[in-house]
Amino acid sequence: MSQSYLFILMNFIPFSFLPSATGNECVCDLKNLDPVFPNDKLTKVETTALKCIRSITSEKMTDLDRLLLGLKQRMKQLEDNVVELEKENSKLYAAMSLRIIELEYAEIQDLVNKLNRTTNDYYHLNVQAAAQLEDMKNTMVELLKFDKMQVIKKNRENQIKKNLEQYKEELKASSPPPTVSPGRCGLGQLVNVAGPRITSPTPYGTSYPYGAWGRDVKPAPGDENKYWLVVLTSSNVYGYYVRQYSTLSTLLLGLGPIDTYIASSNPTTNTIQGSNMVMYANALYYNCYNTYYVCQFNLSTRSVSTVALPSDTGYNSKFPFGHLGTTYSYTDMDFATDELGIYVIYATTSNFGNVIITKVETSNPPVFKKTWFTSLLKTSVTNTFMVCGVLYATRYLDKDTEQIFYSYDTKTKKERYDLKINIKKMKTNIEYLNYDPRDRLLYVYSDAYIVTYELVFQ
Ligand SMILES: *[C@@H]1O[C@H](CO)[C@@H](O)[C@H](O)[C@H]1NC(C)=O
Ligand SMILES: *[C@@H]1O[C@H](CO)[C@@H](O)[C@H](O)[C@H]1NC(C)=O
Repeated sequence: MSQSYLFILMNFIPFSFLPSATGNECVCDLKNLDPVFPNDKLTKVETTALKCIRSITSEKMTDLDRLLLGLKQRMKQLEDNVVELEKENSKLYAAMSLRIIELEYAEIQDLVNKLNRTTNDYYHLNVQAAAQLEDMKNTMVELLKFDKMQVIKKNRENQIKKNLEQYKEELKASSPPPTVSPGRCGLGQLVNVAGPRITSPTPYGTSYPYGAWGRDVKPAPGDENKYWLVVLTSSNVYGYYVRQYSTLSTLLLGLGPIDTYIASSNPTTNTIQGSNMVMYANALYYNCYNTYYVCQFNLSTRSVSTVALPSDTGYNSKFPFGHLGTTYSYTDMDFATDELGIYVIYATTSNFGNVIITKVETSNPPVFKKTWFTSLLKTSVTNTFMVCGVLYATRYLDKDTEQIFYSYDTKTKKERYDLKINIKKMKTNIEYLNYDPRDRLLYVYSDAYIVTYELVFQ
């Protein structure tokens, strides 16, 4: 790769060939019309960047640590993406990686600016660091002017890779041992995902790739064996009724469903938007149509109550789940159940598109209780679920494998990016994923298939 890349570069370096006549001979002078590239400046910027980021991380402010950790992870993700692109097509790789690096740099700059603006909260971001960054930015702008053939960008990328390696080493050296303390909720540490156990197309066949299913986490007496299923019947985005079956076998056979309608048309006010809903005490919790509101649909009374998330919460596919090249449309809000109740998982602009966890009180109307901020970029994960106050996130490895790679413990506020628990997939995509604390199974909706997995705790 590097050799062929070099070869391409050599062919394009902006030399000019000036014919000059000496007698009958015609020779060519190789002359570089451009000023000499200021390599030292670039090196200086790289060194300053590294020092600067080090000096910031050494401060023990949790907010800043969290944001920086997020950035580092973003860089890591970026690196993985670049490697993937590299495999596929070297020209695409070049174009893409340059663009990505530019975006990443802009993002880092943006982050620093934001942190700097809220000086009171981030007073520890010392003046020297700020000045260095400013200087860095100016030099970058200057250097970009030289960058006719994208040589610097390539250099910079290599440097970023090198820095990444260093960050990784530092992270390894300083990262705490596994943090999910055993014994909570009577569970040990999550070590494996067994299965799939149940796999079946929905009673609708394969018509609807987006949907959700499971059991009521807090069923009324007599309803313990019921299962619910919601398919997004319009544009893979909107659903307007809840289908219920009396048992698992009637669900698998498609027998005797009972449908409860939210409205007669679809979509309209209070329509279900996106697939990541949950059922709790005979009420469905979901993202209301076309807003950043949470809807609670009471199946007994068929009435809807709402409560608003912060107004900069992503909705309508602003911060959906996804992976390289794919987004799961309208999955901005993810509802999750565990032993402690219900949560809504979402992202806001003010938290840089990173995941936020908010506990939902199931009163009427529902209210929000505690909130936790993570460094996890929402659009980089496929889905999340909660177990005993710990958020787990999965990422797409390939069409057969999904991986639980991340956890955030709401009790200790510790987050980890080093989990490697694989899930064997039935189908390529996961549109819905939720944990049922009653049977400790993961309920999955995957390209029109309903699937369960068993969580294995140590
Ligand atoms: C940070 O804020 C200070 C004062 O508000 C300003 O002088 C400085 O230029 C800012 N630095 C950056 C990197 O934005
Ligand atoms: C739903 O309605 C029933 C009947 O009025 C009521 O008992 C129940 O508390 C309601 N559920 C919620 C979550 O408000």
